[in-house]
Amino acid sequence: MKIPFLDLSRMEESLKSRLKSRFSEVLEAGIFSGGKEVEALERSISDFFKSKYSIACANGTDALELALRALGIGPGDEVIVPAMTWVSTAEAVVLVGAKLVFWDTDQHGLLRPDWEKAVTPKTKAVIPVHLYGKMVDMYSLMAKAKQHHLFVIEDAAQAFGSFQNRKAAGTWGDVGCLSFYPTKNLGSLGEAGMCLAQDAEISEKIRLLLNHGQPIRDQHELVGRNSRIDTVQAAFLNVMLEDFERNQTKRKEIAESYLEGFSGISELTLPEGILAKDHNAHLFVIQTRQRDELKKFLAEKGIGTAIHYPTILPDMKPYFSLGDFPNARNLANQGLSLPLNPYLKEAELGFVIDSVCNFFR
Ligand SMILES: Cc1ncc(COP(=O)(O)O)c(C=O)c1O
Repeated sequence: MKIPFLDLSRMEESLKSRLKSRFSEVLEAGIFSGGKEVEALERSISDFFKSKYSIACANGTDALELALRALGIGPGDEVIVPAMTWVSTAEAVVLVGAKLVFWDTDQHGLLRPDWEKAVTPKTKAVIPVHLYGKMVDMYSLMAKAKQHHLFVIEDAAQAFGSFQNRKAAGTWGDVGCLSFYPTKNLGSLGEAGMCLAQDAEISEKIRLLLNHGQPIRDQHELVGRNSRIDTVQAAFLNVMLEDFERNQTKRKEIAESYLEGFSGISELTLPEGILAKDHNAHLFVIQTRQRDELKKFLAEKGIGTAIHYPTILPDMKPYFSLGDFPNARNLANQGLSLPLNPYLKEAELGFVIDSVCNFFR
């Protein structure tokens, strides 16, 4: 058996044909930037998340950079970022000229609740990352940020469709950033992202920034850039949204089977709260001291796994920073993501579970 970690060519034929026919519609309409598909996507996500403003852009990394710039964060400012996240979170901070301040995560990769110890008079913002799809405790984080007069930029790139007390990931902070990279729970067929904002002025600023600072054509009010979403990606996302809830149900079922299957293995640390609403089951990350051996054992059986992520950011050359970050480092050394996607077949799921159990037997 060959079980890929994720193989997007496995999309169902019915979905493929809906995507093809939507592509034909865009082609016939001849509108490839902006237009009704982009408006529809923004409206759908605003409705789904009860977000006042949803601003589509080119990708999730740009969304973070646009958020920082819209909030006026730049040289001389410090931004608190978890030591374990995808590189974009740190990259965006450096790109706007601000100083990165790393803080350790908890055992499961979420910004450790004592992050406020990193606050200095120069701190302007904190970026909680809802890693693997699990939301940071936003009540507590928002209260602390308010106390220290900090902006909150949520990196919700992995948490599309996670809700804490019915409030969507990305709608708690000043700006929430989403990624529609193809592997995400809602993925495009290329690159796309979005900023969520609840304030009209911030939303307007983001819109200006991502379109060369133009409120209307040929009128440039500030130095912006081009980070517009492709119309065709917005169109694909509108189709993908039709299947989102059904795919979420499948993801949760798979996560539940893994939890049941591995419940007796004392050597494994399992993801916490993955069946709850504030986790969208984006990734199923198990932790074990024998991570590398297990990864190899599974590969020999044809099972694809992944590591999110093998190196913590403060250890990377461009972001080097002194500090211990023990939890983040543990996760980098012990975390292993098992296949979890709507295209995983029942027999494959059973085989993955049996194989992991056999390794520890
Ligand atoms: C935590 C996190 N932040 C930011 C991003 C950046 O998104 P994109 O790949 O769309 O630029 C990603 C996605 O890969 C991510 O996982």
